[in-house]
Amino acid sequence: MRIAILTTGGDAPGMNAAIRAVVRRALSFDWEVWGIERGFQGMFEDDFHRMEHGAVSGIINHGGTILKTLRCPGFREEEFRRECYRKLKQRQIEGLVVIGGDGSLSAGRAISLETGIPISFVPASIDNDIAGTDETIGFDTAINTALDAIDKIRDTATSHERVFLIEVMGREKGFLALAVGLAAGAEIILVPEIPFRTEEVLAQFLEGRKKGKRSMIAVVAEGAAEVSTLAKEIQAGYPGEVRYSILGYVQRGGAPSARSRRLAFLFGARAVEALAEGKGAVFVGLEANKVVARNLLDTCEKKELDQESFRLAHILAA
Ligand code: F6P
Repeated sequence: MRIAILTTGGDAPGMNAAIRAVVRRALSFDWEVWGIERGFQGMFEDDFHRMEHGAVSGIINHGGTILKTLRCPGFREEEFRRECYRKLKQRQIEGLVVIGGDGSLSAGRAISLETGIPISFVPASIDNDIAGTDETIGFDTAINTALDAIDKIRDTATSHERVFLIEVMGREKGFLALAVGLAAGAEIILVPEIPFRTEEVLAQFLEGRKKGKRSMIAVVAEGAAEVSTLAKEIQAGYPGEVRYSILGYVQRGGAPSARSRRLAFLFGARAVEALAEGKGAVFVGLEANKVVARNLLDTCEKKELDQESFRLAHILAA
């Protein structure tokens, strides 16, 4: 069999480990593997290259993706997609592995519906916002990266007796913020899924201060509020000093954690096995600690934030 592999959307730590798993598992079946550079743009531009064993040596511990990635709005256009499909056909690609986030998932579905080419989708995103899997590749690493930064900020927050608002990524979702906030023991966690008013946040800080807390941390999902404005508004009613910090792109980089690598390894291998089994279009995910390969076209539901953890975080941080 001749398969192609690409990474697309925002990079996530563990993508390289997933590429390695896909390539090595496919080679174990004596298949031909072709890497596509820069996601769907590379497919459009016919940027394919053969991948042998050595192509994935020494990458398991590296963040980012050796295949490069980009967000490809062109793929929404029919003519662009048709050109991509022509390239797959010309190169006689019989199976495709797409490693990416939420946006890439719709691209994967389109390819399957419009070409019938067998495809395995491997979810990788620091946002963990993809339904059909309890966890995405890279999520755990991003939690740890954010946590490491917040622990450091806590030192200065404690020394200066300051309140800190810390913005984490997650696009319009609060999965990363909730996980980071829980692990950091943040006093407040703000996510887009749960509406709040600035006065309520201020009241919580004032309440904490009344109880004797001098330094406090709020983890704010990027989609929940404009953190600089929020900090200014809180400062207007808070007697101590308020600061904010935006963690930004550091959350996307760095060596993948053991957990992200393990997931990459399991997902990557399963993605290839599903192609070998002739399953057609599959979504590889983690369900109750088991790796599953579901029908790609059946995974259209929305992922819900765990409201119970959110409630508990609030109780524990009191
Ligand atoms: O989807 C991953 C993510 O890092 C989001 O958390 C963030 O909103 C977005 O990507 C940033 O996108 P870009 O890399 O295009 O600036």
